Amino acid sequence: MKEKITVTPELLKNEFIKLYGENSSAIKMFASPARINIIGEHIDYNGGKVFPAAIDKYLYVAIRKRNDTLINYNDLFFDGNFTFDINDNFVYKKENDYANFLNGILSIIKRHGYVFESGFDVLIASNVPSAGGISSSSALECGFAWAVNQTFEFNISRKEIALMGQQSEHEFMNVNCGIMDQYIIATAQENTAELLDCASITHEFVPLNLGDYRFVVMNTKKQRKLADSKYNERRSQCEQGLAILQQNGVDIKDLCSLSVEDFEKYGSFIKDDVIYRRVRHCVTENKRVLDAVEALKQNDLVQLGKLLYESHDSLKNDYEVTGIELDTLKEVASKQDGCIGARMTGAGFGGCAIALVHKDKTDAFIKNVQEEYTKIIGYEGGFFTCSSSEGVREL
Ligand code: GLA
Repeated sequence: MKEKITVTPELLKNEFIKLYGENSSAIKMFASPARINIIGEHIDYNGGKVFPAAIDKYLYVAIRKRNDTLINYNDLFFDGNFTFDINDNFVYKKENDYANFLNGILSIIKRHGYVFESGFDVLIASNVPSAGGISSSSALECGFAWAVNQTFEFNISRKEIALMGQQSEHEFMNVNCGIMDQYIIATAQENTAELLDCASITHEFVPLNLGDYRFVVMNTKKQRKLADSKYNERRSQCEQGLAILQQNGVDIKDLCSLSVEDFEKYGSFIKDDVIYRRVRHCVTENKRVLDAVEALKQNDLVQLGKLLYESHDSLKNDYEVTGIELDTLKEVASKQDGCIGARMTGAGFGGCAIALVHKDKTDAFIKNVQEEYTKIIGYEGGFFTCSSSEGVREL
């Protein structure tokens, strides 16, 4: 990976021209945001409700049609200049590195019957920390899918783009993810978060009125190993829990159809302690999401913050996806002046946490948490404040 600078769309466009040359047909530019999940973790694949927001950190895509059927991919930061042909049969290959995300999208779009009249050149650059838990990969998939959609005028809806991104993760990348990341990145609106019902795949925009508070993103900068396989393992543990309940006559189609009261009644059917705790997390987290949205609507930010802490604890103790780095960030954050809530965000096993912090205290907060984190973990984390952004768009 090359040295990281903050990239602007102008810079990317200039680099595109240097790389692929000037010519008459227009270069199109797209911005695709990262996301935080405010609350509702690991329940999108259990028919739950989740509450993410797109944020003002972007991946940019520059694209231009070619006169032949070739495809060129380049990334400003990642090594690798990849050339394919639009008529190729795209399959995952380890050596194709980041190009797999793009080929995955192309394979799905083609499978849905869309026909490319030509190839194209692409240059990508991202300000989203990679593998950092704020969905750098979905920003890439959805940003690229939207860029292709607009360039070739396919008229694919934003929801379809999200579903294709998810399908590509499942079939091409072998990660059994839920729909949350792709959906929020494809459909977000500025100044809102989205209450996404993952059972019906419908959403409600909720104004993100944080008053004097701001979300601070805290990156563990931990190298994530085996995160995908642990993710798939959690998912299959949930499937086991659901099967046990159904075999015992509990009439539910997914874990999040179970209320907290029902769980108290039927939970004892699950004898395996690990599976029991996984299910308890899903059921209680789903309730916390609804309570958090209600708290936000009532402008009760202290209650929202309390639910963030509770969510983290459940992910730590019941779902076991946090680890020392994320736990340290949450613990240290919770002791700082002006912080009213903190939790891990995204898949976990490293990646990022978020904290809700008074706007006048964010600088001191970042300084103190950085110091403490470095002392305990042995290397620095990454920190920035963010605000809510719209979804993927043409510039
Ligand atoms: C990853 C997945 C999402 C979701 C989160 C955990 O980000 O892509 O679908 O499951 O983890 O909430």
